[in-house]
Amino acid sequence: MSATSVIPAFRRDFWSDDVILDPYPVYRELRDLGPAVWLEANGCWALTQYATVRAALLDPQTYSSASGCMMNAPMNTATKGIMLCSDDPEHLAMRRLFAKPLQPKALIEHRRRFEDLAKERILELLARESFDAVADLAHFLPLAVVTELVGLDQYGRDNMLDWAMGIFNAFGPEDNARTNDGIALAGGVIDYVLNKLDRANMVAGGWGEALFLAADEGRISEQTARMMLIDYLSPALDTTINATSAAIELFAAHPEQWSRLRADPSLIPSAINEVIRLESPIRAFSRLVTRDHAIGDAQLHKGDRALMLYACANRDPRHYPDPDRFDIARGAGDHLGFGQGTHVCAGMHLAKLEISILFEAMLPVVAGFRTGKSERRAHNTLRGLYSLETTMVGAEEL
Ligand code: HEM
Repeated sequence: MSATSVIPAFRRDFWSDDVILDPYPVYRELRDLGPAVWLEANGCWALTQYATVRAALLDPQTYSSASGCMMNAPMNTATKGIMLCSDDPEHLAMRRLFAKPLQPKALIEHRRRFEDLAKERILELLARESFDAVADLAHFLPLAVVTELVGLDQYGRDNMLDWAMGIFNAFGPEDNARTNDGIALAGGVIDYVLNKLDRANMVAGGWGEALFLAADEGRISEQTARMMLIDYLSPALDTTINATSAAIELFAAHPEQWSRLRADPSLIPSAINEVIRLESPIRAFSRLVTRDHAIGDAQLHKGDRALMLYACANRDPRHYPDPDRFDIARGAGDHLGFGQGTHVCAGMHLAKLEISILFEAMLPVVAGFRTGKSERRAHNTLRGLYSLETTMVGAEEL
């Protein structure tokens, strides 16, 4: 398609460090340019406003995932067959299997264990003068429990966090250093699941083993079972980790919101939604446009690539009044931080459970947070902190 004939257009590289590290003014500019904006430097569309992104996610016939959700051909080819990168009915058949252990009912059996681990960790951190809210707190539950529940072999468990952190960089555009590093890493992960992983070494009763058992029953092929492991590997850790550290950062900056949550813990689900709305851990995935159509002044053509800007939509003032304000009672349960429609996050109940349990463990004993130095690094897909110096103020200290 001819970019020059298209309005509205955005000229800066959407994957440049400055755009990634300071995204919110850019999102505002994009939303104000229009509901669909041509990213001239990247050769793709960005869907920007809440109503447009939501409508597109609910229309997988027009916005297909089967040609990949990434911004480069090598990854879109290499990930063919994973659940994230397929359309219904194939997608739904995989999803029924995959999401079974991630439903609220199935997760109940893990709640007590998560609670005990969380309580112990919070008391330990409370006793410290300061700690890193990313490495010491946000990593804790996902690493302690999720790696075990997925149940890879020891090599897989040892590497899962690094894979999860790096692999989403491979979603970026070609000719981008982070994308190239991510692709190299993703190649190793695909080789591991397809060729190196011996199912005999997996944890019995784990989610990964269940995929192989489904293959034994002929419900999916063994190749599909192996590729589906990637759906557990990449999104299960760092997304939740980033949401957790964002929560600490937000509550430190808005102590009145923490006090409000302490006074009314029934706001926990709403608070989690508000954190994910405001600091959406995944900024965008892409789709392939399957038919010519117009959105406002923009003419999209079959074969174009369109980015679903979840993070941008979540701060759209057309949908959320005063969208940059952190308000745990906002009731933002309709945010797009977990996606929407057939590909809506398959792990969102697990993510919410983990964060909820951390809040429940902190509320009775933590009166507030003081934060110091933090580090944020540019990442092609994820928004999150790499470190956040934190002190928890004990409730009895007040
Ligand atoms: C706060 C934490 C999380 C956030 C913000 C998040 C975000 C998202 C988003 C935006 C999507 C939509 C993809 C699309 O539109 O194509 C998605 C899908 C997905 N997520 Fe999550 N996620 C989180 C946690 C998890 C966890 C803990 C898992 C664990 C297994 C997980 C597994 C998946 C899978 C498998 C998909 C693909 C679903 C499908 O294609 O049907 N996510 N997630």
